[in-house]
Amino acid sequence: MTRTVIVTGAARGIGLTTTAQFVDQGWQVAMIDRDEDALADAAEGRDGVRAFTCDVSDPDAVNVMMQAVIAWAGRLDALVNNAGVADFGPIEQTSFERWRTVMATNLDGVFLCSQAAIPHLKDRAGSIVNIASISGLRASTLRVAYGTSKAAVIHLTQQQAAELGEYGIRANCVAPGPVRTKLAMAVHTQEIIDAYHDSIPLNRYGSEDEIAAAITFLASPAASYITGQCLAADGGFDTTGVGLPALRSDNK
Ligand SMILES: NC(=O)c1ccc[n+]([C@@H]2O[C@H](COP(=O)([O-])OP(=O)(O)OC[C@H]3O[C@@H](n4cnc5c(N)ncnc54)[C@H](O)[C@@H]3O)[C@@H](O)[C@H]2O)c1
Repeated sequence: MTRTVIVTGAARGIGLTTTAQFVDQGWQVAMIDRDEDALADAAEGRDGVRAFTCDVSDPDAVNVMMQAVIAWAGRLDALVNNAGVADFGPIEQTSFERWRTVMATNLDGVFLCSQAAIPHLKDRAGSIVNIASISGLRASTLRVAYGTSKAAVIHLTQQQAAELGEYGIRANCVAPGPVRTKLAMAVHTQEIIDAYHDSIPLNRYGSEDEIAAAITFLASPAASYITGQCLAADGGFDTTGVGLPALRSDNK
């Protein structure tokens, strides 16, 4: 039977590219998204995939989805918790509703999908890859909800690694830097784009393929002794501090 992975938020962006890389590497992919039409379009004509519409923040829907995936595939080897929403705003103007909307998908969704997957991952010494963000590694303006949700995902990953290691289940995290997806472009102004270029040693945004490569590596048996880690796929953003833009302009 073919190795099976669940990828949430698979209708577009990083999740869709991750799906394609898994299929290229011989996996079959359960593509999960709450956007039914976009998911159907994304899955159409693709070999080795099956689409399952599900809102990862809804506990009942997640359980139904998990049963449907197991009924289809008969096994689960990996879970990629990629579904995410971004909402940037100042602390004082972030209503509780906006805060909850971000937490519901970015944090509750990771908790719920992982919990539903554990019994099946136990059978295969499987692995979990959670998608955080550089905004979870370093605080930044306007990211009170988004950044906090992603910092929590990084800790949740360590928690999963600590508790699930005895079943042979690995849990790791990828913290992407900026990628020009629909999510990012909805909140990145030209000013933000320029600031990122200045602050990233590689001086550019990443691509979906570059993030997906980190995700598929951590999910695969090639990473069999790696657990509890957060891999920043961020062009070096997390390594730098004050001074990079100033030093760059000195060199110009
Ligand atoms: N693009 C970036 O710059 C960037 C940077 C760091 C981290 N990330 C993270 O990468 C992940 C993927 O982001 P992306 O840029 O590809 O975004 P995207 O908006 O292009 O895709 C996200 C997908 O998730 C789905 N989704 C959202 N909420 C959902 C829910 N509750 N249930 C099911 N599906 C849901 C959306 O319908 C969409 O198809 C997110 O977790 C995001 O926070 C992105």
